[in-house]
Amino acid sequence: MKIIAYGMRDDEMPYLEQWSKDNNIEVKAVKELLDENTVDLANGYDGAVVYQQKPYTAEVLDKLASFGIKSLSLRNVGVDNIDADAIKRDGIKVTNVPAYSPNAIAELTATQLMRLIRRTNTFDRKIANGDLRWAPDIADELDQMTVGVIATGRIGRKAINIYRGFGAKIVAYDIYHNPELEKEGIYVDTLDELYAKADVISLHSPATKENEHMLDDEAFSKMKDGVYILNPARGALIDTDALIRALDSGKVGAAALDVYEDEVGIFNTDFGSFDAIPDERLKNLLKRENVLVTPHIAFYTKTAAKNMTQFALTSNVNLISKGTDESEVKF
Ligand code: COI
Repeated sequence: MKIIAYGMRDDEMPYLEQWSKDNNIEVKAVKELLDENTVDLANGYDGAVVYQQKPYTAEVLDKLASFGIKSLSLRNVGVDNIDADAIKRDGIKVTNVPAYSPNAIAELTATQLMRLIRRTNTFDRKIANGDLRWAPDIADELDQMTVGVIATGRIGRKAINIYRGFGAKIVAYDIYHNPELEKEGIYVDTLDELYAKADVISLHSPATKENEHMLDDEAFSKMKDGVYILNPARGALIDTDALIRALDSGKVGAAALDVYEDEVGIFNTDFGSFDAIPDERLKNLLKRENVLVTPHIAFYTKTAAKNMTQFALTSNVNLISKGTDESEVKF
C-alpha cells in the first residue's frame, strides 16, 4: 500500500514519519497542495492525504479517480472546499478529522474573548507609547455576562466548559441538541432569541450554503448594543461589510476573528509589511483596537498537528483496505 500526502508542512513531518515507521506503510510527502498542476504526482498511489483551503475542484477529483484513487483523507475538519458533485460522481470516499483538538480552537477563542474584555490590545498600545493610565479603558467581567454559543458540537461544547469556568451564563442554539446540554435547559429555539440574550456570541458552526452570512445587518440589528463577536469557525458565517458597519456604529463592541471570508491566499503568507497586505477590508479590521484578527491559527497546536496527520493517515488506510472509516464524510 502506498499513500501520497499533499501540502505537508515541516511541523507535520515528524508525526508522518513516526506513523509511517509504526505502521510500516510507505508515505510520499510533498509540500505542494493538490491542484491541477500537482494531481499527476498521485498517479500510482492507493490513497491521498490532503489539507488545503483552496478548492478541491472537479477537474482534480476526476483525475484522481482516473488514477484509481478513491480514498481521500483530509487532515482537517471542514469539507466546504470540496466539489461534492464530483465526489459523488467519481465515487471517491472522503474522511476528515472531526476532533483533532476541539480544545485548541476553544482555548484560542476564550483567550481572545478575555483579551477583548480586559482591553489588553488597547493597554498594549498605550504602554508602547508610555501611557500607563487606566482610564477610560475600564473592563467588563465575563462572570457577569451571557455567552450565546452557536453550534454545540465538540468545539462549541469545549468552549462552553471554558466560559463556565469563568462563571459566564450560557445560552446555545443548534439544530441538533446535545442530550446533556438539553437536560441543562440552555438551548433557545431561535437565533433571534440568542441574539437578544447574549452579551457575547461565539460561533462554532461549519459553513454551509444555508448559513452563509448568518451574521448580516439584520442579525446584528437584533443583538445587544456593544455585543462581543467571536468567530474561530468559518469566515463565510459573517458578512464582513455588515460587521464593519456594526463596529462603526458601536452595535458590535468588539470582535475576535480567527477566520475571514477572503482569507484563502492571504492568511499564512508573509507580505513583508502591513501595507503590503493586499486586502483593504482586512486591514481596516486589523487596525482597530477593539478587533483581534488572527490568521486561522486556532487549530495550530502540536497536539492538533499530530492528530491531524496521524488520524488522517489511519483513516486513509481504512478506506483503502476496508472501503470505509468511522470518519467518512457523507456528501
Ligand atoms: C479545519 O480543520 O477545517 C480548520 O479550519 C483548520 C485548518 C486551517 C487546518
